[in-house]
Amino acid sequence: MTVLLTGGAGFIGQHLARRLVGGGHEVAALDLLHPQVHADPDAAVAAFPGPVVVGDVADPAAWNGLPDGVTAVVHLAAETGTGQSMYETERYHRVNVEGTRLAAAFARDRDAALVSMSSRAVYGEGRYECAEHGTVFGGRCCAAAEPVASHEDDPHHPVSVYGETKSLAEATAADEAGAAVPLTVVRPQNVIGPGQALHNPYTGVLAAFLAMLREERPLTVYGDGHQTRDFVHVADLAALLAWAVEHPAAAGSPRVLNSGTGVRTSLLDLADAAIAGSPLPSPGVTHLDVHRAGDIEHACADLARGREAGAPAPTWTARDAIVDFIRWSWDKPGAGAAAWDDALDELARRGLTS
Ligand code: UD1
Repeated sequence: MTVLLTGGAGFIGQHLARRLVGGGHEVAALDLLHPQVHADPDAAVAAFPGPVVVGDVADPAAWNGLPDGVTAVVHLAAETGTGQSMYETERYHRVNVEGTRLAAAFARDRDAALVSMSSRAVYGEGRYECAEHGTVFGGRCCAAAEPVASHEDDPHHPVSVYGETKSLAEATAADEAGAAVPLTVVRPQNVIGPGQALHNPYTGVLAAFLAMLREERPLTVYGDGHQTRDFVHVADLAALLAWAVEHPAAAGSPRVLNSGTGVRTSLLDLADAAIAGSPLPSPGVTHLDVHRAGDIEHACADLARGREAGAPAPTWTARDAIVDFIRWSWDKPGAGAAAWDDALDELARRGLTS
C-alpha cells in the first residue's frame, strides 16, 4: 500500500508525502534530484518520509527497481519553467511527455491508480466573456472582453512550449492508462509556499520578488502589472492531491480537476503582499517594458467541479499564502536577484522577449 511520488523530493512532493504519511499511507519517491531544483539533494532526501529512488522519469530504466506494493502513483516530476521551455524544447518534451507516458505505463502494469500533475498552462490565455462576442477562448476578442475563470472542459490553447507539453502529456496519460487505470489529472495554477526552490530562477515571479526584497531592490514588474495569476498555497494543492489518491476516479473515465483559489491577484497586488511579508522597508516596484515569449496575461481557476465532487476547498487566500512564503523563506539560502536578471537576459539573447 505505497504511494509512489515522482518528483517527490520537490516542495509539492514533500508537502504531499507528509500529508499522506499522516493519513496512514506509505510513500516512496522517484526523483532525479536535478541540480536546477535541488541545491542540497541530501537534505531533500532526508526530508522525504520514505525511500527515494534516484532516476529520470523519462528513462525507462528508472522505472525498474521501484518498491513492490505501489497502489497509486502521483506523477509530479516535470520541467516547469515557462520561459526556459521556449528554448529547451527537446528536454521539456522528453521529460514532460515521455515521462508521463512511462508513469501511466507503470501504473497500468502495477494495477495502480494515477494522479497526474498537469498545469493551467494548457488553457493559455484562457476564457474571456464579452458583451459583443460571448464566451471566447485563448485570448481577448476585443477591448470589451473580461478575463474569467477557466473550467476543466475549456479547450486547450497553450502559448508556451511548457503548456504544449502539459497538454500533450494529458492526452498521453489518458491513452497509455487506457480503460484499466483510474486517472485523475490535476491542473494547478501558480503554486507557492514553504520549501519552494529559491535558487532556481525558473520557479516563478514570487521567488524572484523574494530575492529582490532581500537585497532591498525594487521588484521588477514586467509591463504595467495588471496581469493576473491565481496563487495557490502548496498545502491546499497537497490536500487536493491527497484527496484524489484517496478517492480515485472510475477506471476508464479520466477526471480533470483544477487547483487554485478561484481569485485573481494582479502582479501589483502580488508585489504589495510580498512587501508586506518582508521585515525590511519597502523598496517599491519598478516596471520593465518587457514581454517574455510564452507569457500569458490572465489566469484563474474555476473550482466548481472539485466542489461538486467533494474535493477539499482551498483554505489559504493568495495574500496570506504570499506572506507565508516570504516569511518562511526569508532566512533560507537562495540565489541572488542577479540570477533572475540573467534568466531574462538569456531570453532576450535568444530573441524570446519583446
Ligand atoms: C507558472 C509556473 C508554471 C505553472 C504556471 C501555472 C514558473 C516558472 N512557472 O507560470 O510551472 O504551471 O505558473 O499558472 O513558475 N514576472 C514579473 N517579474 C519577474 C518575473 C515574472 O513581472 O521578475 C511576470 C511574468 O511576466 C508573468 C508573471 O510574472 O506575467 C508570472 O510569471 P511566472 O511566475 O514566471 O510564471 P507563469 O508563466 O505564471
